[in-house]
Amino acid sequence: MSVLSPDLGVDLGSASVVMYVAGRGIVLREPSLVIVRNDQSRECVAIGSEALEMLGRLPPDLVPVYPILQGVVADFEMTVLMIKYFLRLAIGVNRFGKPRAVVAIPAEVTEMERRAVEEAFRMAGFRYVHMVEAAVAAAHGSGLAVYEPQGNLVVDIGGGTTEVAVISMGSVVAGKSARQAGMAWDNAIVNYVKKKHNLLIGDRTAEQLKIDLGSAIPIPEARRTQVRGRDIVTGLPHTIELSSDEVFDALRDSAKQVLGLLTWTLERTPPELGADIMRNGIYLTGGSAQLPGMDQMLATELGLSVSTARNAMDCVALGCGYLATNIDLLGRIWRSHPLTE
Ligand SMILES: Nc1ncnc2c1ncn2[C@@H]1O[C@H](COP(=O)(O)OP(=O)(O)OP(=O)(O)O)[C@@H](O)[C@H]1O
Ligand SMILES: [Mg+2]
Repeated sequence: MSVLSPDLGVDLGSASVVMYVAGRGIVLREPSLVIVRNDQSRECVAIGSEALEMLGRLPPDLVPVYPILQGVVADFEMTVLMIKYFLRLAIGVNRFGKPRAVVAIPAEVTEMERRAVEEAFRMAGFRYVHMVEAAVAAAHGSGLAVYEPQGNLVVDIGGGTTEVAVISMGSVVAGKSARQAGMAWDNAIVNYVKKKHNLLIGDRTAEQLKIDLGSAIPIPEARRTQVRGRDIVTGLPHTIELSSDEVFDALRDSAKQVLGLLTWTLERTPPELGADIMRNGIYLTGGSAQLPGMDQMLATELGLSVSTARNAMDCVALGCGYLATNIDLLGRIWRSHPLTE
């Protein structure tokens, strides 16, 4: 192991990529998005935040590609390009040899999906890749006592996956992951507005509505906002008014799905660990955990205390970074995959 090549913790998410560099902390937060020329050349036109600015406003010969979908590699070629580009942004030109990385992946992946991540990192210039489950990384990044004989329940709700894990002594004792999260919630809002108002809106508009008006619990004083889109009857641009009650309605099933994953997991948690969770509460991480009222809704339904991490979107990368700089700990994480050099 070269002392000169940098160690990175990477959260390769469906919505965003976050990179942690040892000794520097979080150095990069970029949308997990690429704009590609829609012909045989598949020329990459923009990556990350530059690509996001173009989203929804593209000429027909350009298409948006999310290289990572539901936590796994959906477009291998673009994943490699994107990692390479972000690595360059994060550490500049690296003259000291290939870096190594700890990368978070969903808990329930196939061997092929796991290999695709590993191979993409190697092709992007990494020497050494270790994969760790996203919820385990999130627990490390949140500063939970991961290696104690104590039950901790972590829920990471991202853009494409929701990961629930009860962790004790470095191991996942019970858990469940679903390939659905914030991006599917945006879609639920698109469908709701289409059905109820005959208005077609873009994904970015839906995401903004979710962030501005969304809630997992009814809001006492409803707020309203103007929404622009295309009327599906006339085909013309049109503006409607949407209330927070409607956004709550649109997101109701999505919020209940998170509750379902938690109930499933708690029912399969050994009683002593369940007692620990009653004492310690539930810890939420990931961008979508920031949906207002999510913690409150879960707390009310489950009768447990629930808290959302202050730096919810960074926890997984922080945890990966911590493991990348304490590489001996990787051997203590049960179900983690063997080190490959
Ligand atoms: N305040 C907010 N309220 C609700 N959702 C939010 C908020 N802020 C961000 N989000 C959502 O968080 C999601 C991104 O979270 P995150 O970066 O944790 O996902 P990811 O790690 O890229 O995805 P995954 O882990 O599922 O592959 C997006 O869907 C975004 O809309
Ligand atoms: Mg994530």
